[in-house]
Amino acid sequence: VSFIVGIGGTLRPGSSSEQALAISLRAAAAAGAQTVALSGRALDFPFYDPGVPERSERAAAFLAALRRADGVIISSPGYHGAISGLIKNALDYIEDLAGDPRAYLSDIPIGCIGVAYGNQAAVAALSSLRSTVHALRAFPTPYGAAVMAGPGVFTESGCADAATVSGLELVGKQVAALAETGHLARLPRSSKG
Ligand SMILES: Cc1cc2nc3c(=O)[nH]c(=O)nc-3n(C[C@H](O)[C@H](O)[C@H](O)COP(=O)(O)O)c2cc1C
Repeated sequence: VSFIVGIGGTLRPGSSSEQALAISLRAAAAAGAQTVALSGRALDFPFYDPGVPERSERAAAFLAALRRADGVIISSPGYHGAISGLIKNALDYIEDLAGDPRAYLSDIPIGCIGVAYGNQAAVAALSSLRSTVHALRAFPTPYGAAVMAGPGVFTESGCADAATVSGLELVGKQVAALAETGHLARLPRSSKG
């Protein structure tokens, strides 16, 4: 059974990007994967300091989960035309995996989700995540979700837009399917960043 780690959301209760992540993870679980969500406070780490070896309990749990991951799903809000500082800081901690036998997140599938009020910021967040995923030597899935989360789209009872839900489910299904094949791990690896 493949293990898929979800990273995302904001510190805001009812976070739409956290709800979007949950929809994708549910689809991955329905496809047979074991999943865990690291959302909101679970990503609230001190600013990444490469010179300090100690890691907070939350950061250590984040890194331990990623070391076991066969696939990842990342859901970031679009903040001022980019991903949020919370998500970027968490992703910066993956530098601690540089010296692992599997450097960074080499050769695993990563589903990317950008969530914002407007389409411009949703697409910008999605593109930015894909760029970071390449830097971490992983594979963005072919389909990535740019989600418009204006008023009424995400409520306490879930996501009201069927097309949004099916796009988010597709991200989860693609990560689960690619993680299950293991084909991506057979590629020659680059020693360059
Ligand atoms: C600091 C900040 C900056 C934002 N910048 C943008 C933006 O540039 N464009 C946009 O469409 N929405 C912007 N938003 C709205 C968020 O993308 C939107 O509220 C998103 O759903 C937030 O995620 P959350 O619901 O998970 O908290 C911003 C929100 C915040 C708090």
